[in-house]
Parts: sequence; structure tokens; C-alpha cells
Amino acid sequence: MNNFIFQNATKVYFGKGCVKEYLACLTKEADTILLAYGGGSIKRNGVYDEIMDILNKEGKTVVEFSGIMSNPTYAKVQEGARLARENHADMILAVGGGSTMDCCKAVSLQAKYEGDIWEDFWVRQGVIECEPLPLGVIVTVAGTGSECNGGAVITNEEKKIKMGRDYPKLNPAFALMDPTYTFSVPTGQMVSGSFDILSHIMETYFSEPDEDNVSDDIMEALMRSVIRNLRAAIKNPKDYTARSNLMWDSTMAENRVIKMGKKCDFECHNMEHQLGAYSNCNHGKGLAVIHPVYYRHIYQNGLAKFVRFAENVWGISSEGKNEEEIAAAGIHALSEFIKEIGLPTTLKELGVKKEQLKEIADSCGISQGSYKIMTHEEILQIFEECYE
Ligand code: NZQ
Ligand code: ZN
Repeated sequence: MNNFIFQNATKVYFGKGCVKEYLACLTKEADTILLAYGGGSIKRNGVYDEIMDILNKEGKTVVEFSGIMSNPTYAKVQEGARLARENHADMILAVGGGSTMDCCKAVSLQAKYEGDIWEDFWVRQGVIECEPLPLGVIVTVAGTGSECNGGAVITNEEKKIKMGRDYPKLNPAFALMDPTYTFSVPTGQMVSGSFDILSHIMETYFSEPDEDNVSDDIMEALMRSVIRNLRAAIKNPKDYTARSNLMWDSTMAENRVIKMGKKCDFECHNMEHQLGAYSNCNHGKGLAVIHPVYYRHIYQNGLAKFVRFAENVWGISSEGKNEEEIAAAGIHALSEFIKEIGLPTTLKELGVKKEQLKEIADSCGISQGSYKIMTHEEILQIFEECYE
């Protein structure tokens, strides 16, 4: 294993009824709360009313910051920071998925920082010296794991760049996670969020070191859990066991635990983020299109790990197969699973424009943790292979 330092500052309250039980206590220091949410799902499923009841009873002043879009923009971050400053908010409460949580992490920084956070903390890795506004999150959809890390993926529409940075200082102070809040997530979003979980695990698993290490073992168990529980939740969206497992799988994939001692790849994320910057496509769907094709490009450089993946995650038998055939069968099982759960398999379905492929490929970051370091030419080749 490589050397590491581990810390996770977010305190998690998990389970049915946790918001009712703990929210009042967790917000007791704040008089004015910036309540942030997305396009309104929380108003339709009762979550908004449940939260407002608690905050009203506690006599809080609530300032609403709504309409946070999927793939949150830098402009939206500025809007939130303005609201927080003008109303002297003491705390941000982000209620939603990765988009709302990410946007609010950036708002928590911009509200307390005089300069331009895009230039100083996203274009380059900066050092946060100020104290960001305290942030608490209430998770309503499983997928990104944003609740337990300092990562915030923001789209700068003007510059056509979608980019994430992870600052431990932006970890939420607390995360309330009630799996019943995810019952109302539409199947399509549940599936794409679950693929995002799988993607985070695979992006970490398929990287060095390859010697025996506990992170790889945990990841195999997590991948099996996502596959099993997603199948169960598709059959019965109100299966509490399945929804709770998916919710915790999502956190476990991105709370830094599985990354310990690993290099990490995340080239598929680099590619998907730029596809998103140009087409605003759904994150999990974009990843589903790219992963199998990318793995066909790199598996020979990490053959032993791809063999393990086939055998330990997909139960592929090695009988009568050489290593390359076992590895290829694992990638095939992954692409069959993508079809089974109804995710797209081509960039055309995502609405990506063919004539922009080269420009998008050229704008992608190159991961140094891949088994095979990409070139922009090879990324373009991958995009062309999965276009239609
Ligand atoms: O906006 P509302 O109306 O709330 O609807 C949302 C949205 O349409 C809906 N939804 C959420 N909870 C619901 C619900 N609908 C019904 N019932 C509920 N309980 O789901 C839709 C998607 O929400 P969104 O927050 O956009 O999805 P997700 O959690 O997948 O977040 C995606 C964003 O996170 C970034 C992605 O790039 C993308 O911008 N990521 C963040 C990461 C991080 N911070 O660690 C890592 C990831 O790799 C990822 O890049
Ligand atoms: Zn992701």
C-alpha cells in the first residue's frame, strides 16, 4: 500500500427518521439558515414540509436558495453566495443530491472569500485559509457520495469547463441520511446514480497498487452490493434494505476510505465531465457509455486486476479461458449489466454533437493514475467508438 493520511470531518446521522430526530439539535447555533434545494422534488415528496416544520418550531429565519440545477453552474454559486451574504446566513442547509451539495460547498466558500473562487480554487488547487460558512446536508438521492467529502463539481458555462476539486475544509459538518427520502427518486435517476457509485469504485479499483490490499477487497464487496441492491430496488422502489444499502454504498465509495493506499484513475470522470460541459448530459448516463469502451482500451495494461474483477465481482468462471478471455468476459458482463438496467450505450443518445467530439476530447484532463495514460487522440478514438 502507498502511504496515506486519513481524516473525514463529516458526522453522519443515518436511518429512517433521522431528520426529525436530529435536525433541531444540529442547527441550534444558527439563527439564519440558507435552505438550498434543486428543482422542487422536495416540495412534491414532503421532505420540504418536514424540514420547514422543524426549523419554524425552532424559530429560525429561513432564506430559500432554490432552483439548483443538475450540473450546477458557477453563476448559480454566485447567486447563492450573494443571498448568504445579504441575509447574514449563519449556516447553509443543502437538501438534495450531488448538484445541490456541490453547489453549496462552493457557496460556503464564496460567501466568506473576497476573491474569485473559480480562479483561485478550481482553475488551480488553492489553500483555503478562511473559514467557510458551516454547511449541513440532507441527502435525498444516492449517487455522488458528496455528503462525506469536500469535492464540488462546478460547471463554468462561459469557459465550457466542468471541474471538481476536493477540499477537506469543504466537507459538510453533518450529513443526515434517511433512505426513505430516496423512495421518490425516479427509476431512471436511481439507476444513473447507482452507476455513478459503481463508477467511483471502479475508477479507484482499477489502479495501482495491485498487491494484496484491504481497499481492493472492500471495493469488491461494495461493487457486489451495488449490483445486488440496485436490482432489488428496481423490482421494488420502496425496498428499505435495498435503498439503505445503496445510500451507504454511495457514501462508502466517496468518503475517501477506499482510496487509501491507492493511486486512483478517474479518467472516465475526466471524460464525462467535459461531455457534460458541452452537452449538459446526465453524469451517471455519460459514465455508463464510456466505461466499457475505456476498459477495452486499457485492460491489457492491468490484466491481473481485470481478471479479479471478472471472477470476484461478476462470478465469471475461469474454466477453459486464458487470462485475457476472463478479463474480457468481465468487461462484457459490465456492459450487459448497463443494458439490463436501462442505461444508454452511445454518446448520440446523450445528445452529444458529433462535430464537437475532437474539441471535447482535447479539453479532457489526463489522469496519471490509469493503467494506461491516455492521449487526447486516444480519448477521441474512445468517443468515436461509443458515438453510435
Ligand atoms: O432538482 P430536484 O427537483 O430536487 O430533482 C433532482 C434532480 O432532477 C432529483 N431528485 C433528487 N432527490 C430526489 C429527486 N427526485 C425525486 N425524489 C427525490 N428524493 O434527481 C435529479 C438529479 O439530482 P442531482 O443532484 O443533479 O444528481 P446527482 O446526485 O447525481 O448529482 C450530480 C452532480 O454531482 C456531480 C456530478 O458531476 C453532477 O454535477 N458529482 C459530484 C461528486 C462529488 N462531489 O463528490 C462526484 C461525482 O463523481 C460527480 O461528478
Ligand atoms: Zn461520479
